[in-house]
Amino acid sequence: MERVAAQPVQSRSGKTRLKRHFLTTLDRTLPELRELLERARRIKSGAAKPDFRGKAMALLFFNASVRTRVSFESGLARFGGHPIHVQPGKETYVFEHRDGVVMDGPTQEHVREVAPVLSRYVDCIGIRKSDLITTGATTAEVTGSWNELRGDDFLKAFAKHATVPVVNMESNFEHPCQELADRLTLAEKLGDPRGKKYVLTWAWHPKSLPLATPHSQLLSAAALGMRVVHLRPPGYDLDPEVVAVARQRAEASGGSLEITDDVDAAYAGAHAVCAKSYGGIGWYGRFDDERRDKAALRPRWIVDADKMGRTADAIFMHCLPIRRNVKATDGVLDGSRSVVVDQAENRLWAQVALLEQLFEEWRAR
Ligand code: CP
Repeated sequence: MERVAAQPVQSRSGKTRLKRHFLTTLDRTLPELRELLERARRIKSGAAKPDFRGKAMALLFFNASVRTRVSFESGLARFGGHPIHVQPGKETYVFEHRDGVVMDGPTQEHVREVAPVLSRYVDCIGIRKSDLITTGATTAEVTGSWNELRGDDFLKAFAKHATVPVVNMESNFEHPCQELADRLTLAEKLGDPRGKKYVLTWAWHPKSLPLATPHSQLLSAAALGMRVVHLRPPGYDLDPEVVAVARQRAEASGGSLEITDDVDAAYAGAHAVCAKSYGGIGWYGRFDDERRDKAALRPRWIVDADKMGRTADAIFMHCLPIRRNVKATDGVLDGSRSVVVDQAENRLWAQVALLEQLFEEWRAR
């Protein structure tokens, strides 16, 4: 993912500080990610209490959400801040992000104006914009290839013109807030996760779902020094840049990364199983072809009691929402090792920690 450069800003005291958006965790170091995790733990335990009084955050949702919207709104409100929910295109003008465009088509306002204007009103801007999140029965029609969509051009253009921190609330490429929450959940549930086995398993689903969350989930466990296993059928590899960073993080923190389609070996001895369905990069945009080609995978690629029975009493994770008895059975979701609700709760604490850290970093002026 091409990075949006951190902005050097001079404080009143004359010090120059780097102000970074939170579009990706690929620009964060392992110590920085550990610091965010510790901050979230302190806030959740009540040992630290952020002060968001006088802070407002605009939450721009191009797509549907339950957890992301409510956890950000609740996290701000319970520490004195004020969320403002915005649905671009439905209750605003239609935004343009490309430079040099003659705007005589459907777009009505450019991010060159709307990003700095919103930055005058609020202290932070969250954006959820994914081409593949849909609420209907079928996958969205996307016109671009994965190579085009992985660039998250709108998000980056918006961040470039904003003068307050921009938070990625799920884009095509990454869901970094889910990454923070999953890391907090693994650390809570497994004690010291180092050396423990984490399986990120692809699951069958009728639609071609986004890649952002599995990318962030692979990165979450890798940064904890776990033995990360990405279990997927052929054709369902993740983006090579994410895999490379996950491998570096795992190795730098004493863990490892293995990619396999051996279901039995992957589940054996696992301490955490995280299920995620997503569309294959090779089929991107050819959703009818993908639906046909993956039909035979359905019986094998579901998380059920039999597979969980081969683990070392693993916890079961999923980002939610989940289609029951499609990606995981009722028995797994309702079983005592399912942590999906705790995992969803941790979105709140992880994001409060993130906002506190961003407000500190951007307070220099
Ligand atoms: N996991 C997640 O981001 O949930 P929502 O889509 O409901 O926000």
